[in-house]
Amino acid sequence: MTSHLKKVELHCHLEGAAPPRLTLAQARKYNIDISACLDGDTYIWHDFASFLQCYDKVSEVYKTEDDYALLTETYLDELADIGTIYSELIVSPDHGKRIGLGADAYMSGVCEGIRRAKAKTGIEARLIVTGERHFGPESVIGAAEYAASAGNPLITGFNLAGEERMGRVADYARAFDIARDAGLGLTIHAGEVCGAFSVIDALDVVRPSRIGHGVRAIEDADLVRRLADLGTVLEVCPGSNIALDVFPGFQSHPLRKLKEAGVRVTISSDDPPFFHTSLKREYEIAATEFGFSDAEIDDMTRTGIEAAFVDEATRKALLARL
Ligand code: ADE
Ligand code: ZN
Repeated sequence: MTSHLKKVELHCHLEGAAPPRLTLAQARKYNIDISACLDGDTYIWHDFASFLQCYDKVSEVYKTEDDYALLTETYLDELADIGTIYSELIVSPDHGKRIGLGADAYMSGVCEGIRRAKAKTGIEARLIVTGERHFGPESVIGAAEYAASAGNPLITGFNLAGEERMGRVADYARAFDIARDAGLGLTIHAGEVCGAFSVIDALDVVRPSRIGHGVRAIEDADLVRRLADLGTVLEVCPGSNIALDVFPGFQSHPLRKLKEAGVRVTISSDDPPFFHTSLKREYEIAATEFGFSDAEIDDMTRTGIEAAFVDEATRKALLARL
């Protein structure tokens, strides 16, 4: 039903897109017991904290540059297959450091995956380096310093993910200052697990052009107006929000209300197999659960291209393809 539409994704965590079968093959290859996290085709978690634990455990079975090239290529091929023309992947070079691979080798694997997928399918991709709140402000500053100094043209943005209940945004302000000074696009997870205050903090402290999720802004009418006035783009991931119980069902999910209030919104899949979703399914949900027309969905895709962290020539080319 939405298969004919061109698609764009601004919010997907690379390790969060790991297909369960690939994760299982990787675990076998390295003799890692993943059974606490993966049962058949299902990642096992029961709340936000255990989801993050499962996510970190799954990440551990991707160990080498080749593993990262394969993971990246596999996901981008899947996106291209469903008509996706542009993808921003949220990546953690810090994770490369933690597993002893090193940030540069991690990134070079990811970039190789992008090159391979682009050569086959034409899909355009960029990388958003993320810090994880639950590894503390110092590690987030390290991630920002890496992103700022890597000189990698595919790294065009900086994000903050992880346990939203840990610390306040101000604790991570320095990392965003480093990324801003380096000219990177800024986005931040907020208004997902925590309420409207976290979105206000993000706007006050980070001044990002985009917010990951941000959907709980709906709890504060003044904030919704502020987002609309600023033109801040929300990277909305409805399937993720329902899986993580941010809202009890699509009927109470605020995507439509936010759009109608003039907030700029796009749709993404976040960590698709963890949440039994895919970008394909998110586009279908936009039509079937939210009742958006093809034109309204294209409008959100266009917003995604307008808000993408890319150079203007690429943006123009993407708009032309849409
Ligand atoms: N890391 C991976 N997925 C995430 C999410 N939905 N929220 C915060 N951190 C994440
Ligand atoms: Zn996310």
